[in-house]
Amino acid sequence: MKNYGLDIFANDNFIISDDKVVLNYKSQPSLYEITKKIRSKNIRGPILLRFPHLIKKQIGNLYSCFESSILVHHYKGKFRAVFPLKVNQFPYVVEAITQQGKAFNYGLEAGSKAELILAMSKITTGANITVNGFKDKEMITLGFMAAQSGHNITITVEGLGELRTIIEVAKESNLKIPNIGIRVRLHSTGSGTWAKSAGMDAKFGLTATEILEATRLLRDAKLLKYFHMIHFHIGSQLNDIAPVKRALREAGNIYAELKVLGASALQNINIGGGLAVPYEQHSDAKIHNYSIEEFTSSVVFLLGEIMDAKGVEHPNIFTESGRYIVASHAVLIAPVLELFTQDYQEELLHFKETNPPLIEELRELYKHLKQENYIEYLHDALDHIESLLTLFDLGYIDLQDRSNAEILVHNIIKKSLYLTPSISTEELKQLQVNLQERYLINASIFQSLPDYWGLKQHFPVMPIHHLDKDPIRGASIWDITCDSDGEIGFDPNKPLFLHDIDIKKEEYFLSFFNVGAYQEALGMSHNLFTHPNEYTILISEDGYKITNEVESQTILSILEGLGYHQDEILNKLKEDLKSSTFITSKEKSDTLLKLETFVKQNGYLRTTN
Ligand SMILES: Cc1ncc(COP(=O)(O)O)c(C=O)c1O
Repeated sequence: MKNYGLDIFANDNFIISDDKVVLNYKSQPSLYEITKKIRSKNIRGPILLRFPHLIKKQIGNLYSCFESSILVHHYKGKFRAVFPLKVNQFPYVVEAITQQGKAFNYGLEAGSKAELILAMSKITTGANITVNGFKDKEMITLGFMAAQSGHNITITVEGLGELRTIIEVAKESNLKIPNIGIRVRLHSTGSGTWAKSAGMDAKFGLTATEILEATRLLRDAKLLKYFHMIHFHIGSQLNDIAPVKRALREAGNIYAELKVLGASALQNINIGGGLAVPYEQHSDAKIHNYSIEEFTSSVVFLLGEIMDAKGVEHPNIFTESGRYIVASHAVLIAPVLELFTQDYQEELLHFKETNPPLIEELRELYKHLKQENYIEYLHDALDHIESLLTLFDLGYIDLQDRSNAEILVHNIIKKSLYLTPSISTEELKQLQVNLQERYLINASIFQSLPDYWGLKQHFPVMPIHHLDKDPIRGASIWDITCDSDGEIGFDPNKPLFLHDIDIKKEEYFLSFFNVGAYQEALGMSHNLFTHPNEYTILISEDGYKITNEVESQTILSILEGLGYHQDEILNKLKEDLKSSTFITSKEKSDTLLKLETFVKQNGYLRTTN
């Protein structure tokens, strides 16, 4: 049985029991039974399952690791955290974050006006709001309104222009002044795909010269007492701890220098996000080189060391980790609609009374192929097919012979690949690429895994059932968009093997893990496929509850979202049908009813799978 790297990416959240993936929590329901229950209500297409207990677990881990590092290193500052809304702004995620985070006073981070409004309306009373990203006077005024409404808010300035606007708003209004933070532009950069957030050419943050100027501006405006925080973020999904340490040394020293220079209200250092998530599922793939315990210990130890050396009080430590908190909570379930090389099935062999000698030889090779001889037999088969294709071109064998030859060779290659203990030679690798099976899934990669499309970010994928059988087919995955980019190709270096299923007789569901961060917010409605149906699953000791159903948008509402008028579209379609000829009035009224049903469903395919 293959475990598809669950031990690498699932963090013990999911395990295999019998032949299914089950939640390793309380009553341990399987993903398959949850999926079946949802689909019994005539739901088709992809399904997004949310597990709030996994959000709770991650928030708990983050706080407990920082708090134990604080104890171990005798650190005097406190630990504070906010959740960056950009990572997932969907209502039932924000609800889980605020509910599960209440006990910790977990806050929210906003990076735009809309996110700030969301944060102001959803924040737990007393928890922190931090505001990053570019801001105009209106957004800064919103920050003042939040402070006036009693929120514990820090506006982080990304440039001197923003600071001047804060000073202007403070002069013009009597609203309560929010805390002010400064994002520092560090020399140190992160590493990996999302490492462009720091460095001298980064989009955000103030240089050393600008930080000094900012302090002068604040002092002159008598606002230095609101300067509470310095902030940095060196990138998301940090694979290496070394750049984190460099950034901490740099930012820690900037903090200490500013304190020494008289920024006496300064009390917080915000280290941004970046904690990595395991997206890999192959044992030899590169994953991040640190644990959460090492990360928190490094942060706390280094900051303590720097402050002690400069005789400065230990600051409170803020984090804005997002991916770490929510990636694991969501699983995408995608039904497989079709396998594209089923035409090579053995049942389709139709031998004649007398077959060409090379076909008879292929039959023998296939029959006697085993561990001891498979390389030799494979080479013979590859040689024979070349000859058989030439014989076909010259008219010596017919189409039935050619079909038999192709099926036999295909199956010989398949069996050989399966017999090989490791795909070590270039030849075998290439055969594996050529022989891959295409699994068509009822989902959109653009909508549900946009980081795969945009950045080739791998997401762990596996079937949720049939796990008692060996997966023998090298697989690539096609989505239902009308775009050749909607494909997760077979990668011989990270091969995916799936089961040989006859979809007409059996169901087959694939699950994609760790899709809870960024994917939903970035999801694109390419071909007008929208967010899948989603459900929140609450698991108890004696069962589970499927709650918070959010149905995928209907075809008419997708079009409405683009600026079309639902009624206009529906009326036009009806008029055209009504004025058509050659069908009876009964057929016409039935067709009209059907049409209305179609446009009021979502756009995913509604075959039985
Ligand atoms: C300023 C800031 N804070 C926090 C985050 C969240 O990062 P992550 O999801 O890697 O924890 C980001 C994302 O890039 C960010 O730009």
